Amino acid sequence: MFTFAPTQGQTKAQLHADLVEAARALIAGETDGIANMANLAALIWQFLPDLNWAGFYRAVGGELVLGPFIGKPACIRIPFGKGVCGAAASSGKTQLVPDVHAFPGHIACDSASRSELVVPVIRDGTVIAVIDLDSPLSARFDEDDAEGIEALARVIAASI
Ligand code: SME
Repeated sequence: MFTFAPTQGQTKAQLHADLVEAARALIAGETDGIANMANLAALIWQFLPDLNWAGFYRAVGGELVLGPFIGKPACIRIPFGKGVCGAAASSGKTQLVPDVHAFPGHIACDSASRSELVVPVIRDGTVIAVIDLDSPLSARFDEDDAEGIEALARVIAASI
């Protein structure tokens, strides 16, 4: 079986680079998008510290629908434009939220969440999903995390 694991002591940039390479290897040759999203959620959870939710919402019929994830059960359907995920989906732009309580319309699926990073996955110019990461720590995510997860989104866009 696969034995991807983060090594200790590397920079955040290197951690994200390793995550992207592990993701590339994990999805290589597999065409089932659900299986790939399930493994990718687990991989993100394994690599990145201080998360309480990591997973996917998929763009289905003009709204976001819950996909594979690690964390507590979450809201199933999110309209485009609603919450942090809906903002990422409707704008096609990464949402870096240091304090979820200061984000108008934030949808609290887990009351433990304090900060959030949502990155759209874009295929052929269309948002097909978002990657949603939640943390119980305030300001857990920075620009390095945003760039790292954006790189991940580019690598997986054809495989989910
Ligand atoms: N907080 C998100 C909803 C999804 S949960 O965090 C898993 C939002 O505001 O869109």
